[in-house]
Amino acid sequence: MRTTAVSKPRAKAKKKVPPYTDIDQVLISEAKIAAKVKQMAAKISRDYAGKDVVLVCVLKGAVVFLSDLMRHLTLPCIVDYVDWSSYGSSTSSSGVFRILRDLEESVESRHVLIIEDIIDTGLTLHYLKRHIQGRNPASVKVVALLDKPSRRKIEARADYCGFEVPDEFVVGYGLDYEQKYRNLPFVAVLKPEIYAGRDTPPDRA
Ligand code: IMP
Ligand code: MG
Repeated sequence: MRTTAVSKPRAKAKKKVPPYTDIDQVLISEAKIAAKVKQMAAKISRDYAGKDVVLVCVLKGAVVFLSDLMRHLTLPCIVDYVDWSSYGSSTSSSGVFRILRDLEESVESRHVLIIEDIIDTGLTLHYLKRHIQGRNPASVKVVALLDKPSRRKIEARADYCGFEVPDEFVVGYGLDYEQKYRNLPFVAVLKPEIYAGRDTPPDRA
């Protein structure tokens, strides 16, 4: 599947109320996301035709993506959730994880699709994939809405990827900054002053 690289020009967020007033630029519009998610689901449905899948959603960021994607899948599927918390800053993985929630469903001999919001350093996905592979699934593949390949610290790759994004910290459509902005319907970059004096993203200390 073709991954769409995102580049300028970008639209401005139109609403003049919070949290819209914190937005600098809309990087990927609601319409573009909707079209891409539908296209990704169609491809997955074709590739897995005749099979059952287990969707493993990485909390919390991938919840919005999961809920849109799964409704376009024409496959029998079950859904499970994992929550891996990385020690370190609020904007970058340290690579040392605490498992806050592990799989509840058995994935043994099943086809697993890991649903991620964004692949950044790759650390979360790298170790999560290994963790799931240790449970003897029939296969494990990765579905990521966004990918920031320039930030990779370890090998990690999406089998299905929506958009490549530049090295900027993005929010919206499930993605947060300090737990906020997940409810924005598009993917956006915040105004620099929102990060100012805090944990300046991404990893630029
Ligand atoms: P990684 O382990 O560095 O690949 O990052 C994985 C997680 O960090 C993602 O699932 C996100 O929750 C979070 N993350 C990475 N980059 C961003 C970003 O630009 N905005 C919001 N969250 C991000
Ligand atoms: Mg995440």
